[in-house]
Amino acid sequence: MAVLEKLTSQQAIDLENNYGAHNYHPLPVVLSKGEGVYVWDVEGKKYYDFLSAYSAVNQGHCHPKIVNAMVEQAKTLTLTSRAFYNDMLGQYEKYATEYFGFDKLLPMNTGAEAVETALKISRKWAYEKKGIAENEAQIIVCENNFHGRTTTIISFSNDPVARENFGPYTEGFIKIEYDNLEALANALENNTNVAAFLVEPIQGEAGVYVPSEGYLTGAKALCEKHNVLFIADEVQTGIARTGRLLATCGNCSCDNKNCSNTPDVKPDVLILGKALSGGAYPVSAVLANDDVMNVIRPGNHGSTFGGNPIAAAVAIAALEVVKEEKLAENAYRLGEIFREEVGKLVEETELVTLVRGRGLLNAIVINDTEDSKTAWNICMKLRDNGLLAKPTHGNIIRFAPPLVMNEEQLRDCISIIKKTILEYEA
Ligand SMILES: Cc1ncc(COP(=O)(O)O)c(C=O)c1O
Repeated sequence: MAVLEKLTSQQAIDLENNYGAHNYHPLPVVLSKGEGVYVWDVEGKKYYDFLSAYSAVNQGHCHPKIVNAMVEQAKTLTLTSRAFYNDMLGQYEKYATEYFGFDKLLPMNTGAEAVETALKISRKWAYEKKGIAENEAQIIVCENNFHGRTTTIISFSNDPVARENFGPYTEGFIKIEYDNLEALANALENNTNVAAFLVEPIQGEAGVYVPSEGYLTGAKALCEKHNVLFIADEVQTGIARTGRLLATCGNCSCDNKNCSNTPDVKPDVLILGKALSGGAYPVSAVLANDDVMNVIRPGNHGSTFGGNPIAAAVAIAALEVVKEEKLAENAYRLGEIFREEVGKLVEETELVTLVRGRGLLNAIVINDTEDSKTAWNICMKLRDNGLLAKPTHGNIIRFAPPLVMNEEQLRDCISIIKKTILEYEA
């Protein structure tokens, strides 16, 4: 069989099953084309994408401006490594640091790599600037976090599937309850060895947990009081997903006027990935001001591909699209409609107990146990009805469409979701 032969869905699934490691459990649908908010399977059936590759495709599938930037750069220069300078990286670093309001950017490729980078920077800062004794630095993290799948990151996960039989684990992490300022205050009190507090502004993988009002500002104030770095992992919440440019949004030049309703928190260390490239290419980054980032010196950290010219060109285009198409504002407005309309299901059916989220990062909680198959089965029905979503747990479905969606499309999706759930219950 020729590699580029057109396959049926079943053939493509069989190939992955037979020749690929089984490290994912995909919904059985095989996609071969994407445009804006839509994807098509190999048989030509069209779907609304309501996952956006875990919030990477915020700018919509195959955005022409992003694809064009990628193709043009690919024809000119793809990779130099950081052994030499290239003429794109500096332009991207200037653009992105001004865009998000930081002095410096460290380019990486994936979200997990950027999280690892932030942890390393924070530890080094703790030894060199805060004066913590060698090997004593600790980083506070939250229960039910999701920051990726590397050995260090799973060391402080409490997901047994991610951890089991992958030890020994990396030391130096203190786990506290999410959305609990008292727990953070207690962890910081009488412990001068804390380098940083790492937090997701909304816990996405855990099931779109939005913390209480004042949690992030309170946490930042506690960090300041104890001279501890506040690290925001905005790999999933960043780049307009939650109706603001960043869910923390301190000083980030957001175009959404509604932003002023929520207090700003400026992280000391900001982690971005996913939609930094609009899903076209793996691009991640850590941003910080000079007093923190300058602890990193040649040889301390790096990646052959991090900061490559294609990544730089793609990221500039992807960030421009967010502003040009006012995606933060659109996500904010459509998110309000989504929660209001889908929220009615809580009254209309026993099956949905809660709808929560911010902007276009939302979830519905199904009235069943965490280990049930109900959310999966509903996602299968949604697929049949032309909308692709995925459970984060047995009883939680995340809804995160591309932010280029318009109101008419959103209302169409809302009717598919409502119809599917009401039929499922019947
Ligand atoms: C908050 C957060 N951090 C980090 C990651 C890891 O990103 P990647 O899969 O690109 O390594 C994810 C992925 O879902 C995430 O949601």
